[in-house]
Amino acid sequence: VARLLDKRLVFVTGKGGVGRSTVAMALGLVAARRGKRTIIAEVAGQERVSRVFSGEQPEHGREIEVADGLWAISIDPEHAIREYLQIQVRVKAVAELLSHSRMFQYFAAATPGMAELVTMGKVWELAQPERKVKRADRYDVVIVDAPATGHGVAIMRAPKTFADVARVGPIAHQGNRIHATITDRAITGVVAVALPEEMPVNETGLLQSQLRSALGLDIDLLVANGVYPQRFDAADAVRLAAELGEPGGLADGPARSALRAALAAHGRAASHREQIERLVALTGREAVELPFLFESEFGLSAYERLSVTLDGAL
Ligand SMILES: Nc1ncnc2c1ncn2[C@@H]1O[C@H](COP(=O)(O)OP(=O)(O)OP(=O)(O)O)[C@@H](O)[C@H]1O
Ligand SMILES: [Mg+2]
Repeated sequence: VARLLDKRLVFVTGKGGVGRSTVAMALGLVAARRGKRTIIAEVAGQERVSRVFSGEQPEHGREIEVADGLWAISIDPEHAIREYLQIQVRVKAVAELLSHSRMFQYFAAATPGMAELVTMGKVWELAQPERKVKRADRYDVVIVDAPATGHGVAIMRAPKTFADVARVGPIAHQGNRIHATITDRAITGVVAVALPEEMPVNETGLLQSQLRSALGLDIDLLVANGVYPQRFDAADAVRLAAELGEPGGLADGPARSALRAALAAHGRAASHREQIERLVALTGREAVELPFLFESEFGLSAYERLSVTLDGAL
């Protein structure tokens, strides 16, 4: 696991809403603190990272420094296609003309998987020791805030899919090159994020087998996010339940509601423990646990707190 941040390309994957963006940010903070020039690449127009750090809505495709040694970019397929054409065609005016032409736009929009392909192309470009974009600096680590599971593996597989269809020519050549990078475990790492709940745990098992079969990759870091704290032991829980059952006792009025809430939280924490055990058994990996943060404002300080926990586990 210590080697995760030695990889140049790290995909943070998981089911929708489990905390992929949160973990990507926390991991970005860890990498930057360790002196790595790091960029978090958000795909599919989320722009969460730059807004959390700087409060601004950045332009698509711009690399902006959001903290010391930490950059963020929001990859938008349309912008990525234009940039790709500029690199390929070299004459900016011609590339602009081409990318703005109706024909090309229809073609790009009508080709299934095209958005995924150019997005992966951009991710690959960011991770190049010699950047293709003019005057762009290299990054030590590119952390990709990938789309939700299923789609996440599909997007990673897009370059190969295209290369197979094209067979020969520049698309096949470049598709294969990107695929070779993505499937190289010395370069590419995968973080799987799960909530300690039935469905997300099941999906993580599925994600792992898809990673293996479609890409020859595996989970490098398993994160159980939003884990409830265990505040009471079994004996406490029995006493709490007993109090609830006694009318007129300690648990009357508001105290009764508090007791119920305490017991519910206890039940949730216990079920989280069970699900984490399932997660570990299913994947054959240890899980790094990130606590559920009871914060009204989930801001930079929350990401920093999670990054400290993550740092300790890496
Ligand atoms: N450890 C945590 N404690 C409390 N709240 C959390 C924690 N992790 C994430 N959240 C909250 O859960 C929500 C979903 O998190 P996040 O946006 O990181 O997930 P995601 O997987 O990127 O979601 P999406 O599928 O929408 O991209 C957010 O409101 C976030 O603030
Ligand atoms: Mg997200």
